[in-house]
Amino acid sequence: MAHHLRALAVVSFLVAIVGALGACEKKVDAVKRGEYLVRFGGCNDCHTPKILKPGAPPALDTARLLSGHPENLGYPTFMSQDPKEVNAPVFTTPMLTAWAGPWGVSFAANLTPDKETGLGEWSEETFISAIRTGKHQGQPNGRDILPPMPLQDYKDATDEDLKAVWAYLRSIPAVKNQVPTPIPASAQPPQQ
Ligand code: HEC
Repeated sequence: MAHHLRALAVVSFLVAIVGALGACEKKVDAVKRGEYLVRFGGCNDCHTPKILKPGAPPALDTARLLSGHPENLGYPTFMSQDPKEVNAPVFTTPMLTAWAGPWGVSFAANLTPDKETGLGEWSEETFISAIRTGKHQGQPNGRDILPPMPLQDYKDATDEDLKAVWAYLRSIPAVKNQVPTPIPASAQPPQQ
């Protein structure tokens, strides 16, 4: 009887280990899948600062991966001239991290796990809710998340994919970078 119990204990111990390894592998898979989705989804285009060299296309600055519009660049000098006009031009910066249009001026957010300036305090639920609802920080009464964040393309992604993106965003190095707050269209120069 004692033998049986011991055998049972050993078996359940092994089952627990295999289970833990399985969970670990699943997590690694989710991070890999998330990285794939982030690259395929073009998140780096707007959220990663670029290395700019004359005559070369902007290259991703991987040391600052997904850390948003660089704080040392501050506010760009351009502003949308006529926020109400349907055909108002849209401007961006050479790094494609700041954008001006009829909505005012928006800055790509810091998506790294930095607690003060990134998504460190966010939960998986916050992230999924922000993408699904288009509300800042996923708060029901929050302001609308501004263009050109392609919410229309991401909001119908499966829970599994959004969880994978979140797992990947949690796995990248935290970068301290305080992205400026958006300038609302109402702060634009008045019309004559
Ligand atoms: C075309 C540019 C662009 C692309 C591509 C893009 N974003 Fe964004 N994103 C932005 C801008 C600009 C903001 C800031 C909007 C604001 O301040 O309301 C933003 C904000 C965010 C936020 C913060 C939302 C909030 O609550 O304020 C998250 C999270 C985010 N993006 C995730 C992603 C992910 C994940 C991808 C890729 C799957 C992605 N973005 C692709 C431009 C982009």
